[in-house]
Amino acid sequence: MFAAPFHLRGAKDAHEFGYGRDANPTWSALEGALGALEGGTSLVFASGMAALTAVLMTVCKPGDKLVAVHDGYPGVRFVAQERLHGVEVQFVATDTEEICAAVEGARLVWIETPSNPKLDVCDIAAISAAAHAAGALVAVDNTLATPLGQQCLALGADIAMMSGTKTLCGHSDVLLGAVSVRDPELVDALKRWRSQSGSVVGAFEAWLAHRSLATLALRLERSSAGALAVAGALRERGVEVFHPSDHAASSQMRFYGCLVGFVLDSAEHAQAFLQRSELVAEATSFGGVHATAERRDRWGTDDVPPGFIRYSAGIEDPEDLVADLLRAL
Ligand SMILES: Cc1ncc(COP(=O)(O)O)c(C=O)c1O
Repeated sequence: MFAAPFHLRGAKDAHEFGYGRDANPTWSALEGALGALEGGTSLVFASGMAALTAVLMTVCKPGDKLVAVHDGYPGVRFVAQERLHGVEVQFVATDTEEICAAVEGARLVWIETPSNPKLDVCDIAAISAAAHAAGALVAVDNTLATPLGQQCLALGADIAMMSGTKTLCGHSDVLLGAVSVRDPELVDALKRWRSQSGSVVGAFEAWLAHRSLATLALRLERSSAGALAVAGALRERGVEVFHPSDHAASSQMRFYGCLVGFVLDSAEHAQAFLQRSELVAEATSFGGVHATAERRDRWGTDDVPPGFIRYSAGIEDPEDLVADLLRAL
């Protein structure tokens, strides 16, 4: 619903909607659907970055320790290093044992699985058990798998965060983020942060996201099949491939997601591949209905070789994707 202020009646708390920075009926509809998928209460934000910043700023206080993966989406590192004043930050690899070994004394453990861009997978259930025993909360960036691919809260995590900009919305036309939790106090704290920071999503974007949920299962299944087919074809040619299925903990997932990483022998070859491919648009981001890919090292934010390509399968026929891939190679 397009409204900044809503009609007021009676007492202060007599109605759910007063001002559009606090609540909006279109958000509520989307949040209800996301909460049902996640098995918790969901809140939507202006972007994935707004969602992850809300979690970090709400949970971590000066004197706390944050354990966060160093090989995931770089935005977490940037906020942790530049904005969490007085918070000790310990970076770890996306590796179940390494993360479990770091949880002592932590307030929050931030993981991303499968991680980006190397698609390592860690064990959410094992990490949650270890973190809870140490009195820490666990937050999972579930952008790639989405709640249809893995249910983080059911696996034991306290917080599931997502960039809805990717697979959730799926049409490369919306920026949106979501956080899902079970603890009502955390819901209130996150809502207060959202109102105070003003990191709110527009009603139209929320509506587009809600509509996109209708096709999420179809898109996720198809793009997961496409990425797996591309991974197989690359391996047959002896190319070094990164895919979530390489890791035992991926048995916790129903879908692997649309991404596959692979390494060509130089930045020039990777760039030539991107130019030659007819079905793949060169673009950052992932999870859209059309295949996209990027030479990840161009950003200088990740520990990957110059010829590393992050490839996102769309909902094209996997056979067409493989044919296009082999032609471009
Ligand atoms: C895994 C992951 N988390 C979070 C984000 C941030 O999301 P947004 O771009 O919607 O702010 C991204 C964006 O690339 C991402 O890939």
